[in-house]
Amino acid sequence: MQFSNIGIIGAGTMGIGMCIDLAFHGMSSVLVDISDDTLESAKAEITKIVRFAPLLDKTLPKMDSDNVLNKIKFTTNIEDVAECEFIVENVTENWGIKETVYKQLSKICNAEACFAVNTSCISITKVGSVTERPDKVIGIHFMNPVYLKKSVEVIKGFHTSEETINTTQCFLKQLNKEAIIVNDLPGFVSNRISHLFMNEAAFVVQDGVAKPSQVDEIFKKCFNHKMGPLETADLIGLDTVVNSLDILYESYQDPKFRCCPLLRKMVDAKLLGKKSGKGFYTY
Ligand SMILES: NC(=O)c1ccc[n+]([C@@H]2O[C@H](COP(=O)([O-])OP(=O)(O)OC[C@H]3O[C@@H](n4cnc5c(N)ncnc54)[C@H](O)[C@@H]3O)[C@@H](O)[C@H]2O)c1
Repeated sequence: MQFSNIGIIGAGTMGIGMCIDLAFHGMSSVLVDISDDTLESAKAEITKIVRFAPLLDKTLPKMDSDNVLNKIKFTTNIEDVAECEFIVENVTENWGIKETVYKQLSKICNAEACFAVNTSCISITKVGSVTERPDKVIGIHFMNPVYLKKSVEVIKGFHTSEETINTTQCFLKQLNKEAIIVNDLPGFVSNRISHLFMNEAAFVVQDGVAKPSQVDEIFKKCFNHKMGPLETADLIGLDTVVNSLDILYESYQDPKFRCCPLLRKMVDAKLLGKKSGKGFYTY
């Protein structure tokens, strides 16, 4: 099975990374977002990333940014994905927003198309329940930045079929990515654990125990982690981290997932991390 044209919903951090990675692997995409302004920003960001990405990883192709942009159809009309063979949804981490999108996709897309949910925490079984094809709904938790990461967490929903898992494996093989397949509960493996980490790091800063750089240095220099928890939170986007913590808290009804007030305050102040130019660090 060879894929050539993929539907990408959401032109934020992950949607942009997806379209670049698809182009690097010879695939086209239809990129959907809700406003022309967002799509224009996405074009500018893609142009920038395509220029510097091969400097970060020598194995990435050196492509002309126009050639990459020509492989992407930018649109605000979700019906443009009707003919796509496979859909990767990357909209805001908010159940109401995702639910509306999946109800639309369920009606628009051809019956054979699989829906890959790129979510940090939302249950794949819950997403499947609002479509008419829960057997074709699967979680692919891509890592950020998508074009640099060689492995992904794949999540089987309650009704996800073996056929959908095989189709997903073929898709990921074409992107040269390894799948680590796990079962479905909110946050899966990666974010159920990592969000506790990032949240507690924010509490440490809020409580005046250490500065952000000291927290991250301890993880990098003492534990040999590549990145510290607060750098990671900035890279993900603090709004996405807060939304994910809220989903984990609501899903498990466990106080261990209560969101640090400092994180919420930073989001209210529009300090969203790397994507807004300021978070725990300035970019
Ligand atoms: N940022 C990360 O590191 C990361 C990693 C893995 C997974 N995720 C998950 O991927 C998803 C996207 O995350 P992100 O960081 O790209 O978020 P983001 O906030 O950067 O982008 C989300 C985009 O979705 C768009 N959108 C909202 N409603 C829409 C609709 N109805 N139709 C089309 N587009 C719509 C928004 O305009 C925005 O451009 C989230 O579910 C997140 O949890 C994020």
